[in-house]
Amino acid sequence: MQKIRDHYFEKAKQEKYFARSIYKLEEIDKKYRLFKKGVKVLDIGCSPGSWSQYMLKKVGTGSIVGIDISNSVRIHDNRFTFIQGNIFDFDPEFLKKQFGSFDIITSDAAPKTTGNKFSDAVQSLDIVSRVFSIAEIILPPGGTAIAKVFQGEDLKPFIEEIKNNYKRVSLFKPKSSRKESREIFIIAHNRRKAQ
Ligand SMILES: C[S@@+](CC[C@H](N)C(=O)[O-])C[C@H]1O[C@@H](n2cnc3c(N)ncnc32)[C@H](O)[C@@H]1O
Repeated sequence: MQKIRDHYFEKAKQEKYFARSIYKLEEIDKKYRLFKKGVKVLDIGCSPGSWSQYMLKKVGTGSIVGIDISNSVRIHDNRFTFIQGNIFDFDPEFLKKQFGSFDIITSDAAPKTTGNKFSDAVQSLDIVSRVFSIAEIILPPGGTAIAKVFQGEDLKPFIEEIKNNYKRVSLFKPKSSRKESREIFIIAHNRRKAQ
């Protein structure tokens, strides 16, 4: 992950968060009030762990399962379980058998950027499509999915598609997200009952 040594980087260091990404999730949470006590979250692309750190502070007796290719997570909390793996390689049904369903799925997963904004956006959308297909299996009606995506020309039709499955879909660009970054967050609220 590219390290940007800005105000948010320094703040994260001071507040003992593993990454500056925390402030994007905090802004999302301040706006949408998502992480209530007792909720169970699947955190995709969780390494090094700042989102999970933040959510653990919020969910009380709830729990978090984090997944990442990289095993650089250093969270020691009995409400947190880490699975090392690539989301394209595991069967979400396995996840459901092992942990049951989740209230919220978060994804900050991103491809390694190449500098080519077209191919980066395509790869990012592949990840987000996979996140939403995992959500189809592990997220019950009423559940919420939050996912980072790089803006590209195929994003709009994708958003239209997921509107069929969620009652409200918002796009949010946090202030702590660098202006030059093409990332934006999809917040899909209130999953509809399967047809
Ligand atoms: C920006 S970082 C996440 C930062 C994290 N939210 C935090 O607050 O510490 C993106 C992560 O996505 C992971 N990732 C990317 N593609 C993935 C995939 N296909 N499966 C699992 N993890 C993936 C990367 O390994 C990387 O750790």
